[in-house]
Amino acid sequence: MTHTVVSINNLTCRYGDFTAVKDLSFEVNQGEIFGFLGPNGAGKTTTLRTMMDFIRPDGGSIEVFGIDTRAEPEAIKARVGFLSSELVLWENWNGEQYIRWLEKVRHKPMLEEAQRLAQLLDFEMKRSLQGMSTGMKRKIGVIAALAHKPELLILDEPSIGLDPLMQQVFEELMIEVREEGRTVLLSSHDLSEVEAICDRVAIIREGELQTVENVANLTRLAFRWMNLTFKDEAAPIEGFDRINGVTDISTENGELRMRVSGDADMDTLIKHIAQYPVKDLQFDHPTLEEIFLTYYGREA
Ligand SMILES: Nc1ncnc2c1ncn2[C@@H]1O[C@H](COP(=O)(O)OP(=O)(O)OP(=O)(O)O)[C@@H](O)[C@H]1O
Ligand SMILES: [Mg+2]
Repeated sequence: MTHTVVSINNLTCRYGDFTAVKDLSFEVNQGEIFGFLGPNGAGKTTTLRTMMDFIRPDGGSIEVFGIDTRAEPEAIKARVGFLSSELVLWENWNGEQYIRWLEKVRHKPMLEEAQRLAQLLDFEMKRSLQGMSTGMKRKIGVIAALAHKPELLILDEPSIGLDPLMQQVFEELMIEVREEGRTVLLSSHDLSEVEAICDRVAIIREGELQTVENVANLTRLAFRWMNLTFKDEAAPIEGFDRINGVTDISTENGELRMRVSGDADMDTLIKHIAQYPVKDLQFDHPTLEEIFLTYYGREA
């Protein structure tokens, strides 16, 4: 049975007259790594902050563990590891002092787990936070969000600034969290990371939900490129351009290339192709990046 950990119901958030999030709804289930994606300014941070009750909704609601975020924010926070996209640290401390302070705030032991994570992430717990690089600060942010072993992680661009090696460690940590039946909701602009670890994604644009989809399905259901070569010269573009779901037709070196959407009129297309002597036919599946760009609006 799927167990819902986060339920966002018709959420609307405004800054003055500007509506940053519009009627947004989706759910995150226990034990999944859920990616929250969208272009800059789409409303991701606003949504994630509303989950932590740092922002109050102007419409709709969010339930975390079945609790309304406005009703018992402290009860929720105790069970969540949150990482802000812009982490502000008390620079007079070192990592260990910061974690000890968090232990007091959260009333939970953290240091031992923090030290394990620090070792994996190659972070020096005794080094002053002052003057630390962006990536180093990100590491202590990740450690702080994970070290009390929360049931749910809400991470706003967690791996930004991490080098490829550390990004790999981060991905392994997320998979470890999932294997323990815990849940991750993360925003990211790194599509290779999303492809590597996310089970499902929600894509948001201008505050509105575009899709919620299984990552594996995204590539299967999306469009593909069809490349045709003919025994004689290439078939004329005319005719193809009237078939539903067929766009971006071009010819180059006798090859006809077209974009075929997931719901294109395949029957008409195949019959149209069959009028010409075909030498070869190939499908190219789009990269995940191409698919995301369609949702992000460039080709919408
Ligand atoms: N405090 C604020 N006051 C006014 N407008 C704001 C405020 N915070 C965010 N916004 C606006 O709300 C919209 C959504 O911002 P948000 O930070 O949620 O986007 P995002 O999806 O996290 O973007 P990014 O990928 O750049 O982090 C943007 O247009 C932003 O300019
Ligand atoms: Mg943001």
